[in-house]
Amino acid sequence: MSELSNKSAVENDSEPKVGLTPAPLWAVTLLGILVYALIVRSINSGGDFDPNVYGRFETPKEVQDGHPAVVLPDWFVPGRKVYGTYCVGCHQGNGAGAPGQFPPLAKSDWVNVEGPNRMVRIVLNGLQGPLKVNAVDYNNAMLAWRDQLTDQDIANVISYVRNEWGNKGSAATAAEVKAIRDATKDKGEQWTEGQLLQIPVK
Ligand code: HEC
Repeated sequence: MSELSNKSAVENDSEPKVGLTPAPLWAVTLLGILVYALIVRSINSGGDFDPNVYGRFETPKEVQDGHPAVVLPDWFVPGRKVYGTYCVGCHQGNGAGAPGQFPPLAKSDWVNVEGPNRMVRIVLNGLQGPLKVNAVDYNNAMLAWRDQLTDQDIANVISYVRNEWGNKGSAATAAEVKAIRDATKDKGEQWTEGQLLQIPVK
């Protein structure tokens, strides 16, 4: 008799059961829609997961229109663009360069000096031979950009590099670049470290 009543209790549907019940279809569908909406939102407004979302804008004006509180210097967006076209292949997007091959620009003791005097010369004519950057030795060659880049391009990219990745430096102007371009027009070959060290930083 007692065995019989136990059995009927187990089979009774209204009793609570132990175990997993499948989630109802509406809940799965709702979750799917939510995940989809989150993905769409993060694509549209996530800034490509780049902490520095300015790359999404083409001109300083676009940035201003979208973010009235952000005031970017004129050289930032064009300088970043020159960097992305002419420098990034060797010095990398994070400015770290490549060990033993391309020296870093981020925190570089050639970049973080009082004035852009030497850096303008490096970009105009290139640099070759033994070189110490942050106490690490390199011995490679960088070509001249004199014929590819305008005074304004060079001023922009130098100002950008001197203020990106934690670098701190004054901006360069097109007039400064022009003066150095004219003064070094007969230089021809690339600079060496020894020659550059003779040039005052400012
Ligand atoms: C083809 C590779 C290459 C490209 C492209 C290139 N560089 Fe360089 N750069 C080098 C190498 C290699 C050196 C070191 C040369 C040596 O060993 O004497 C160097 C050195 C430098 C230095 C001095 C050292 C340092 O790390 O601070 C600066 C500043 C610099 N480059 C800036 C630039 C800028 C700005 C651009 C873009 C306009 C650029 N470079 C494009 C390869 C490159």
